[in-house]
Amino acid sequence: MIEYRDVDKVYDKDLKALSNINIKIKPGEFVSIVGQSGTGKSTLLKLLTREEFPTAGRVIFYDIDLGELSKKELPFHRRRIGVIFQDFKLLPARTTYENVAFALEVSGKSSDEIKKNVPQILDIVGLGNKFNSYPRELSGGEQQRVAIARSLVHHPEVLIADEPTGNLDIINTWEIIDLLLKINKLGTTVVLATHDKETVDRISRRVIAIDDGRVIRDQEQGKYML
Ligand SMILES: Nc1ncnc2c1ncn2[C@@H]1O[C@H](COP(=O)(O)OP(=O)(O)OP(=O)(O)O)[C@@H](O)[C@H]1O
Ligand SMILES: [Mg+2]
Repeated sequence: MIEYRDVDKVYDKDLKALSNINIKIKPGEFVSIVGQSGTGKSTLLKLLTREEFPTAGRVIFYDIDLGELSKKELPFHRRRIGVIFQDFKLLPARTTYENVAFALEVSGKSSDEIKKNVPQILDIVGLGNKFNSYPRELSGGEQQRVAIARSLVHHPEVLIADEPTGNLDIINTWEIIDLLLKINKLGTTVVLATHDKETVDRISRRVIAIDDGRVIRDQEQGKYML
């Protein structure tokens, strides 16, 4: 479903952020991308959301070469991919419910659909009792759940999580990872970039280690080793 074929990414002329990346990810996988700061994890994910283009090689999503997506096709591509980040990127003046509803509004969904879908999604992420709270009234873990709920509104085939637990303590971290595992079980492919060794070891799924822009290890049921 996702394939990186001989991908290089160069930002400035001397800096190769990614070199000769070859990765295939199948539907339903849970993949952790690990590596030290600045090794290219976020760059790898940005190629998939088409925030960045490869300098060489291709990134394929199902049978689409992402380099060939037109501007018009881009929003449809992005709806197939949910994304969450370390900083939750919620709208501070909107409640939990409104943050999630907003993502549906901007894609032109009817108010009936919104009223039906938002409570369902908030239930899945365990926020059924926080509809009317503002982000500042929520814990970090709860804010990340709102962000996850928002990322799921279009039923994405892949959920990309770029260091989603970077701002959370151990308990909240594990609750968020548990939720990602649950979403994966429900059928969504998950690609997680993280520094967090303990979490990765505990997940015990596929681990791809990157160092200096290169894949140095790719193991099923891997551990965080660099
Ligand atoms: N927009 C950009 N312009 C120029 N250089 C960039 C840009 N984005 C990233 N880089 C560089 O590319 C390299 C890889 O960065 P990237 O953000 O992918 O690393 P990362 O593994 O996600 O790091 P971290 O763990 O700190 O998030 C770094 O050297 C970074 O400085
Ligand atoms: Mg990063």
